[in-house]
Amino acid sequence: MITFDNQVFHARTANTSYLIRIHDAGYLEHLYYGDKIRRASCYDALFEKIAAGYGNTIAAPTDSKLTLDNLCMEYSFAATGDYRHAPLCMKMPDFGYSNDFRYHSHTIYEGTYSENGQTKMPFAKGRAQTGKSGSATLDITLKDTVYPVYLHLIYTFFEQSDVITRRVKIENQCEKDICISKIMSLMMDLPDKDYNLHTFDGLWVKERHENKKVLVSGLYINDSTTGSSSNRHNPFIMLSKENCTEEHGECMGVNLIYSGNHYEAVEVSGYGKGRVMTGINPFQFAWTLGNNDAFYTPEAVLSYSREGFNGLSHNMHSFISHHIISPDWAQRPRPILINNWEATYFDFSDAKLLKIAREAKNLGMEMLVLDDGWFGNRSDDTTSLGDWKANEKKLGGTLKKLAEKINKLGLQFGLWFEPEMISEKSDLFRKHPDWAVRAPDREAYPGRNQLVLDLTRQEVRDYIVSAVGEVLESAPIEYVKWDMNRHLSDAYSASLGQRQGEFCHRFIEGVYEVMNRITTAFPQVLFESCSSGGNRFDLGMLCYMPQIWVSDNTDANERTHIQRGTSFGYPLSAMAAHVSAVPNHQTLRSISLETRFNVASFGVLGYEIDITKLTRAEKKAISEQIRFYKAHRALFQFGTFSRLKSDDNHCIWQVISEDQKESIVLFYQRTGMPNAQSDVLKVSGLMADALYEVTTRRQFMSIRQFGSLASQASPVPITDEGIIQSVINKVYMLESEKEQYRAYGDLLMQAGIKLGQQFGGTGYNDQTRVMGDFSSRLYEIRAVEEAEDSAPV
Ligand code: GLA
Repeated sequence: MITFDNQVFHARTANTSYLIRIHDAGYLEHLYYGDKIRRASCYDALFEKIAAGYGNTIAAPTDSKLTLDNLCMEYSFAATGDYRHAPLCMKMPDFGYSNDFRYHSHTIYEGTYSENGQTKMPFAKGRAQTGKSGSATLDITLKDTVYPVYLHLIYTFFEQSDVITRRVKIENQCEKDICISKIMSLMMDLPDKDYNLHTFDGLWVKERHENKKVLVSGLYINDSTTGSSSNRHNPFIMLSKENCTEEHGECMGVNLIYSGNHYEAVEVSGYGKGRVMTGINPFQFAWTLGNNDAFYTPEAVLSYSREGFNGLSHNMHSFISHHIISPDWAQRPRPILINNWEATYFDFSDAKLLKIAREAKNLGMEMLVLDDGWFGNRSDDTTSLGDWKANEKKLGGTLKKLAEKINKLGLQFGLWFEPEMISEKSDLFRKHPDWAVRAPDREAYPGRNQLVLDLTRQEVRDYIVSAVGEVLESAPIEYVKWDMNRHLSDAYSASLGQRQGEFCHRFIEGVYEVMNRITTAFPQVLFESCSSGGNRFDLGMLCYMPQIWVSDNTDANERTHIQRGTSFGYPLSAMAAHVSAVPNHQTLRSISLETRFNVASFGVLGYEIDITKLTRAEKKAISEQIRFYKAHRALFQFGTFSRLKSDDNHCIWQVISEDQKESIVLFYQRTGMPNAQSDVLKVSGLMADALYEVTTRRQFMSIRQFGSLASQASPVPITDEGIIQSVINKVYMLESEKEQYRAYGDLLMQAGIKLGQQFGGTGYNDQTRVMGDFSSRLYEIRAVEEAEDSAPV
């Protein structure tokens, strides 16, 4: 997979090639990254050609014509005349910032990085995919021209996913300290500048909305300074060529296996070359490296596709499923849960929980998750974080007793924690006020009335492991929602003395240590990561916890934006999505129960609604939803996901099984249009010559949707919001239209189905697609046996 001929490394994955050249003077020139090319003995065609040099530039000491400022480099160094933004900033033993690393040696081996276990960072595991080869690693060592400081550029090539990971290790063998203030995991130069940059931005309840910027000369930063990967700018970014679509065209994705402050920079130089970097955010970062110390950066992830954004997403999804998520959970079906948060908030009792659990069981759900408020004196968000002891008064006994009662009803039991936090009103704070993160002599800045525990300290980490561990051992708990509800501020630890620039990174190392110890001790527990929704949706978290709460926003319309944005870089099995009440608690928008389900089904399904208060008709609809989801669970959680269409008014998604025999499509419409044009549903990924049957999932709709118009079809007048409407609504819902077609894969992919006419004010019958605003359908596509009389192709 990796060859080295005439000073050129050529690494190949299933569909891509990556080439690096060692210059005579030891600089590493980046030659190519893209579609796979064949191995050759000579690659001169790819070399940068410099005939007579450039004016007003700095020359390499070894070659008066060579200016590093216009060379595609693998990593670049300060004070070498490359004035693009550098990936490394380091104070050397002479207190100066000049360094110049050149090729020293290299090793190539099968599998992932041999020092993964020493890095204190989560990393991609090198499991071979069934029957296919796995991964290979290239470790190129560079040495400073003056000091015995070594820089390793480490590349791992994941054959089947078409993913390359990169990271850097730096080793100080000088007697004196060096101090690093910036060290990127990946730097890659691109020969041209003609790209769009896609970032996934937002805030609380509006995470990961896609934003596209056309690159022009200058520098673009995508980063987080909140202490975690953040809901502001996700570490996943994409670069695409102008004509790139979901299905066709070239694009690249970059991500970082890191949950702390991250930093991605994309630069377009005056020479028209591109540079992309990712790594730990240099913001407030300073790391001292003593004699014989080493520093490992987090692992960065890179992928290229010529098959558009969906091709890139497929690479990322496959990589995450095979190399990031623990094999214990990667393909394990996830339970359909009911979470009590939006049903009760802090106001619950054992009786209420058991009532919810009984109803949940009747509807087909599989687990009850008890959210915030079960411990200490917590009846609002001002107290008790850190006191992980059940409030037995509220629970009517021990946690064990409650969990067993829930189990007896036929449901699994799950529990919420927020282990990294401390409330000032808590026994833990009274005992250890110094365990809270705060700057000396300054007033602490609270977030959601709470402070952060100082996870740079071993005794704090040990406390969390033992306190959470004790609870998990005390009761049959099969799922944990691990929350983290505030950002870091006042970053400071008494334990770090003068090395406060190490705080943020050491904090994340601490988080990882705690997560590693707890998840390893309880491998049977399904952990879901959460951070006020999707404030920490990243590859670092996914190494420990296979799924993440996408967003506190459960409004189906908002979720189409959030889940869509998330899907570019992350698979459906990682996205927890719940059906909640209307008017929605985040937007006050009312969307039909069926559409809330249809959108949530594209992920790991749950319900977060007071099911004890639903009407008979709604309960019937929910049990049908659950039956449908269970029948297609593997497809929804582990199928290949594609975005088929995203325009101002539509969001059309598809999942398909690996054998291409089964698929489900979501058709989502934001606004109903009067006298609208026909909708054509074109899908992808089918076998062209296989026969398929397409059917609409049976949905129910409330007669409320018709308002007073319902009177036209009724012998008695039905006024909108009137008593008759409300009585009918409790017990009866109309069935949606049913469309059914048989067609070959080529027709469904190339021509598409002309779907039935939407309601347009001219009447209603059982063929009418009554959609309106914020509405949707699911279409089931199944390969069927050829009928005997069907015509040959
Ligand atoms: C966060 C989570 C919610 C819920 C609350 C409980 O906001 O994102 O889902 O668990 O905390 O306090």
